[in-house]
Parts: sequence; structure tokens; C-alpha cells
Amino acid sequence: MSSWYDHAIIYQVYPKSFQDSNGDGIGDLNGIRQRIPYLQKLGINAVWLNPIFVSPQVDNGYDVANYYAIDEQIGTMAEMDSLIKELHAAGIHLILDFVLNHTSDQHPWFKDALANPDGLYRDYYIFKGHDNRRPNNWGSFFGGSVWEPDPSGTGESYFHLFDKHMPDLNWANPEVRLSMEDVARFWLGRGVDGLRIDAFIHIAKANLDQDFPTTADNSQPVLAEPFYANLPQVQSWLRPFSQRIRADYPDVFLLGEAASANVNLAVDYTSPEAHLMDSVITFRYFPTTNTGIDSAIATNLQPASIDWPEFKKTQVTWQQTLSGVSRPILYWGNHDMARVMTRVAHTPVAAASLAMLMYLQQGTPIIYYGEELGMENLHYDTVAPFADGSVDDFVETAQKAGYSAADALTMASATHKMPARGPMLWDDSAHNGFSTHKPWNDGRSDETASAERQSSDPHSMLSFYQQLIQLKQQALFEDGDYCLLSTGDDTYVYRRQLGQQTAYVVINLSSQKTVITLPAAAAQVMLSAGDYTVNDQQIILGAHAGLALSV
Ligand code: NOJ
Repeated sequence: MSSWYDHAIIYQVYPKSFQDSNGDGIGDLNGIRQRIPYLQKLGINAVWLNPIFVSPQVDNGYDVANYYAIDEQIGTMAEMDSLIKELHAAGIHLILDFVLNHTSDQHPWFKDALANPDGLYRDYYIFKGHDNRRPNNWGSFFGGSVWEPDPSGTGESYFHLFDKHMPDLNWANPEVRLSMEDVARFWLGRGVDGLRIDAFIHIAKANLDQDFPTTADNSQPVLAEPFYANLPQVQSWLRPFSQRIRADYPDVFLLGEAASANVNLAVDYTSPEAHLMDSVITFRYFPTTNTGIDSAIATNLQPASIDWPEFKKTQVTWQQTLSGVSRPILYWGNHDMARVMTRVAHTPVAAASLAMLMYLQQGTPIIYYGEELGMENLHYDTVAPFADGSVDDFVETAQKAGYSAADALTMASATHKMPARGPMLWDDSAHNGFSTHKPWNDGRSDETASAERQSSDPHSMLSFYQQLIQLKQQALFEDGDYCLLSTGDDTYVYRRQLGQQTAYVVINLSSQKTVITLPAAAAQVMLSAGDYTVNDQQIILGAHAGLALSV
């Protein structure tokens, strides 16, 4: 049976950075409503909103203090109801971020857990240990230990995989599972069409009594992924949740964030018999090389080049392995990584070709807001806006290693997630039409042309994305078979085939001119980026150029 999400082209909106309607420098729900005509014109048919719930904003909304109310910076419940209604009237489905692995430490459940160690809510979280000693050496994704001493003084510690203000829920407790199901039902009942399930692979933890084996100093916390990612209970706990929800909302789209899942786990999570997710987002799409990386300073904050041969292997593996199982998620960026223009493409032609490469494959595109304009990461001149201690350390270490502070900030600006969350470039007025106020996330922005300017230019990135989205909606690109062609490391060429229809997507990954010979003569250029010549079977592509052709 076909569902709406089999044809979804998803647009990811970071609510705080999309459009401010009340002049406080923070994007909001009314702002998103105002921009529905833009989304319609772009041609997308689903929006994923990053978290909008009441939150102290320690992690920009992923620290939820009330799942049943909208954060006052972002809007009201009445505005949310209107947004859902107006999106639907425009033919756009809505996917909400559903944060089920942890809450904020300001959530009433956690406050009660601290206030009443013998109460019901204590077991909603993971408390362990004595004398404020860490029960094990496991490290948090946000640095330091996963354990934080109970501030109410019991001597126990509580578990947090992310920030210490984001305690993990205890999914081993059936009450927690039912409480989170209630939350999901509340939003689906209000008309939401799908849930992007945050960090679901982490809900189960291994035996907490054991340290993670390490050769380093055992008193220092170490990342212990095998002890808190993709454990079998993830599936057994989520299966009843998904099944019960689907029984009442058969058309719900469950999109799981499975950062470290490999393709085989993706099969486990998305095969229809598993009754878990419809699709998953992996973070394993973009292997990089070590070329030019300085091992004396943190590698994750240094710009790295994509390892194209490895990338190709990864893509074809996901395409083939998920074929007939579920739709791969196709994306180049999101709020957790530097923008594709800054990280990978560097030029508009390359960005357009890469978009073609990715989105015309089998699967569901997710376009990160502003990507369709070619937006780049912001540039920060100080460490403060990163709001991340690891950047402070990086700048300090880099200076000791001989870099200037400015160089270190340039590297961090080009690689960190925060500068990828800059305000949308709507027009050429002050603050680019995003707000009348200084934006909450302020930095030097690039020379990218605004949406307004691009909308009247048929050769702009925005116009290209509009055409690409239309092309993707052809049955050939939604449902056709995928087959990678062997054409060398510097090119990425694949065939899509449906009945009598065949198309080739031909991309030059290098800055050198290249010649590719197709198995059949080209009939029509469906979409192009950069310089090219087509002579029957022979295709000549200029630097970073790309083509979609029918034969
Ligand atoms: C994944 C989200 O994408 C990220 O932004 C967040 O920090 C963590 N999950 C924790 O919720």
C-alpha cells in the first residue's frame, strides 16, 4: 500500500532560524506560516520541524521541559494548530521532532525524581552509585562522564548521554514507555503526520556495573558506544510503541535518527516485518580523508575532504541493501553538521551537481533550510557563539600548535554545527528579512544571494532546486531501479529505470574536465549544472558539472 511518505520531499526547518514574526530575533511558528507560499513554490511536500516544545534551550530545544506545550519563544498551541491546518491546506505534511531518550532536568518528572527519591518518578530516570562516585567510566557525547551527582544529595548519580541538563529516561521502566506513547498520541491527534524520532538507538543501556575497556587512564570517561547504542532492547521496547501507534494512525511516518547505525541495522530498523521505523537517518554517509588534517589539534574541527571512492561505496551499499526494504534518506546536511556548501561543495556548480547526485537516487530527500539558496556556515569571530567548550579548547590548543586564533576560528566556523544554524537569507533588508532584531545566532554571513533575488533569476540555485524537486517527483526517480555504473573515481554515474523509461545521472566529482561514455545514446537533457557537451553516448563534463539525461 502506498503512503504519502513514499512521495515525500522533506524540507527541514530549524524553527529558531527560519523566520521571526515578532521582532525578538528568534524564529517562530507564525514566521513559518508566513513562508508557506515559499515552501509551496519550492515544491516540497513535507516539513520536519526541529523541537518546538517548552525548553530551557540548553540544547536548542532537544532538552524538553514540557512535551505538551510550545516554547514561548517559538509560539503558542493555537499558532501550532493554525500552522498544521495551513500546511495541510497547502498540501504539506508535518513531521515533528520527538525526543524520547531524555528530558530536560527542568521537566516535572525529573524535578519530582530529585525531590522524592522514593517516589514514582525516580524510576523514570537512571540513578545509581553511592558517595557521588561515578558507577562506571562511560563518556557522554557532549564531553565528560555520563554521570552527574544527584543534586539532592542522595550520593547517587544520574545518567545523561548528552548534556548534564538532559537526563536519560529509563526505558526499562514500562511506565516511561507508556508516558512517551501518550506524548506521541497527543501530537498525532492534533494532526501531525510524522515523527522524527531523536536518538532512539540509545534508549537501551548495557549493564551499568561494567567499565568500558580502555588502555587510557581508567579514571577518565571514554565513549562507550557499544554499551549504549543499538542494543537489542531498542527494538523490543519500540516495537509495541510503533505497532500501537500505527494501529490508530496507519499513515504515520516514523523517521528514526540512527546516527551510528550501519546498513544492516538500518534493515533491522526499517523492514516492514520489524514494525519499527519507516526510514532511518544515518550519519555514516560522508566518509572523509585525512589529507591535510593536523593530528596535533582536534580533527573534528578541521575541514576535511570527502573520500569520494568510499562515499560511492557507502551510497551504493545503502541503495542496494535497502532496495525493496525501505526508502533510504537522502541528505547532504542537517543542524548537526556544517552546511554542504561549506563542508563539501565550495562552489554553486558543485553544490547543484551534488544535489542532483544525492536526491535523484532511490529514497526520500531531506533538504536543510537554506541549502536551496546555497547558504554557507556563518563565520564567528569569537568562541562565545559556538557555546561549546570543545571549541574553546580547540582554539587554545591550535594557538599552542602555531595557528593564529583567527585561523582556528575559521576552521571551527567551517566545521561546527552552530554556524550551520544561521538565519535564513530572505531578502536584502537589514537582517536579511529574517527579523527586525539582531538574530539569536549572529555571525558574518556569506555572499549568498537572498531568496528574493534568486526567485527572479532562472539560473539561480533556488530555480535549480525547484526543477530538481519537480524531476524527483517523476515516477522514474521515485520508484525506478537504481544501478551504479563503473566509471572511475572522479565520476559518479548511475542509471534509473522504470518500465521503458531510462535515465542516467552523470556527475563529475573533480575540477578536471572529464569524458564519460554511456551504454546508450542520450535523448534529452533533463537537468544540468555547469558546462557540458553531449554527443550521442559521449558526455563531456566541465569541472564539477552534472547532468540528468534520458536515453
Ligand atoms: C540528535 C539531535 O539531532 C541533536 O541536535 C541533539 O543534540 C541530540 N540528538 C540530543 O537530543
